[in-house]
Amino acid sequence: MNAPVTALRIPDHDVHPQFPARWSPRAFSAETMTEAEVLRLLEAARWAPSALNLQPWRFVYGLRGDAGFAAILSALVPFNAGWAKEAAALIAVGSKTTRTAQDGSEVANATHAFDTGAAWANLALQAHLAGYVAHGMSGFDPARAASALHLPDGHAIHAIVAVGRQGDPAQLDDTLRAREVPSPRVPLNTIAFHGRFPG
Ligand SMILES: Cc1cc2nc3c(=O)[nH]c(=O)nc-3n(C[C@H](O)[C@H](O)[C@H](O)COP(=O)(O)O)c2cc1C
Repeated sequence: MNAPVTALRIPDHDVHPQFPARWSPRAFSAETMTEAEVLRLLEAARWAPSALNLQPWRFVYGLRGDAGFAAILSALVPFNAGWAKEAAALIAVGSKTTRTAQDGSEVANATHAFDTGAAWANLALQAHLAGYVAHGMSGFDPARAASALHLPDGHAIHAIVAVGRQGDPAQLDDTLRAREVPSPRVPLNTIAFHGRFPG
């Protein structure tokens, strides 16, 4: 069950409740996920928009207890590995950084990371809608991830996502338990401007 929206998550404008209700806990229940359940999240991810519909996103996933999970876990910094090891699934989110030009050469795809960010957002929202939590992490060793996941040339890994059912915060250590609350947002009028940037 997802946690209730708190007073910290009241939007400035009327939006679908899924947006403020999604958040990133670190406590996971012991429940496992099937491959089909993980693929549902990646199905949502692949319907994201992308420049030229190039769909540059790539995903490598593992289920807790399998070799893929262990490989992804091995790339996390110790702080993240400490709690993410309890997740039901780990998903490495990456992208193909190039596109094939008309002359057949590989040239940089300027929007591979932007597009893949949209795919991750779809994944996180689908997880929330399906009663899971998804917690993105950039705290990982890129070289270790590349090696452990056999990253092909011309690809990058941007984040690792821990997914599962939300667990009891009591299972976290004192420091993490104190942080196990939905975070606020800065006011919309400090990040969105009509016509031009202020100043
Ligand atoms: C790209 C990205 C990297 C993140 N890296 C980490 C991380 O390494 N460790 C961690 O505990 N949380 C990480 N987070 C979670 C953010 O801290 C969290 O999303 C943010 O505080 C907003 O909170 P919310 O997701 O609960 O709304 C990351 C989130 C994103 C999107």
